[in-house]
Amino acid sequence: MFTATQDKKLKLAIAGLLVLAAVGAVSFYFLRHPSVMDVGYRPQQPVPFDHRLHVSDLGISCVYCHTSVETSPHSTVPTTQTCMNCHISVKADSPKLQLVRESYEQNIPIEWVRVHKLPDYAFFNHSRHINAGIDCASCHGEVEKQGVIVQKQPLTMGWCLSCHRDPETYSVRTREITGVDVDPALLARPLRQGPQNCSSCHH
Ligand code: HEC
Ligand code: HEC
Ligand code: HEC
Ligand code: HEC
Ligand code: HEC
Repeated sequence: MFTATQDKKLKLAIAGLLVLAAVGAVSFYFLRHPSVMDVGYRPQQPVPFDHRLHVSDLGISCVYCHTSVETSPHSTVPTTQTCMNCHISVKADSPKLQLVRESYEQNIPIEWVRVHKLPDYAFFNHSRHINAGIDCASCHGEVEKQGVIVQKQPLTMGWCLSCHRDPETYSVRTREITGVDVDPALLARPLRQGPQNCSSCHH
């Protein structure tokens, strides 16, 4: 049916298509994979809250707003009441704080967009890491320099395990700016390894 050259061209075309399909499948996999997709994730927030201003310029510690990190597995985003401790009088008429005032008056929480999120089947415990003397910056980057919060680490299982095997290399030790209270003697000691058995992170 085909001449020899047509046949060759057809084979080349099919080979080309197969290569394209393979490249497509591989990039689809890697682009979907969290380690590639989520680093740099920086959603727009309903209120233009700036960590640089509040932490670096005003000197408010992380735990003033993220109150539960030292005591609970979960860290939380502050309630509107925390903002209003100051903004009832500071910049009380600012249009940038309109939504905060509405949230306060109507008693409806602000819908902050979640940035760091593990799948439900993986268990993470903030307080255990914080009380071991590991700084927020190890996992969230230098938040005090971020105008808008951006995901700095992949949050994959491989990432957790790299640090659990070699915590000294991957950890930033607790800094004063966070307001976290840890015993200086603890900070002077090297970190213990984190767990590597499946059931510690998958209950
Ligand atoms: C301890 C006091 C304090 C707390 C708590 C606080 N802020 Fe502020 N905030 C300030 C100060 C001071 C400024 C800067 C005012 C200026 O520029 O002179 C500011 C500025 C702002 C601005 C910019 C306003 C403008 O018009 O430029 C926004 C938006 C803002 N804060 C949001 C929040 C939100 C949201 C919260 C709660 C999560 C919060 N702040 C908690 C003290 C605070
Ligand atoms: C004045 C209150 C305030 C202070 C102080 C503050 N934060 Fe926040 N933080 C917020 C608010 C409000 C949000 C949610 C909006 C956003 O993502 O910007 C947030 C979000 C975050 C997030 C992202 C949460 C998510 O959805 O994954 C991280 C991480 C974080 N803060 C870490 C820190 C660290 C580390 C410090 C200290 C260096 C700090 N924050 C100090 C109010 C504060
Ligand atoms: C060892 C790594 C690690 C350290 C250290 C760490 N975090 Fe996190 N943080 C995470 C992970 C992982 C998540 C996502 C947890 C999940 O989805 O269950 C997260 C989520 C958060 C959130 C979002 C919670 C929510 O419900 O919206 C905030 C806020 C936060 N961290 C603040 C902090 C602050 C403040 C510190 C330091 C005092 C800190 N983190 C230290 C790894 C860390
Ligand atoms: C230090 C904590 C930790 C340990 C230990 C751990 N995992 Fe995970 N695992 C995670 C986290 C976090 C995720 C979700 C992020 C991701 O997909 O990489 C995950 C994801 C997974 C997934 C889904 C992977 C995917 O690509 O969808 C499987 C399967 C899994 N773990 C199996 C295991 C097995 C089996 C072990 C023991 C040999 C183990 N894990 C040990 C933290 C851990
Ligand atoms: C920057 C280093 C670092 C990273 C990143 C890290 N861990 Fe850990 N983790 C540690 C260290 C160190 C310990 C041991 C703390 C101690 O001595 O109590 C630990 C302890 C734990 C424990 C044991 C706590 C308990 O209740 O028994 C769990 C579970 C855990 N990590 C889960 C995770 C998961 C899931 C991730 C990834 C999402 C992660 N860790 C990322 C350093 C890290």
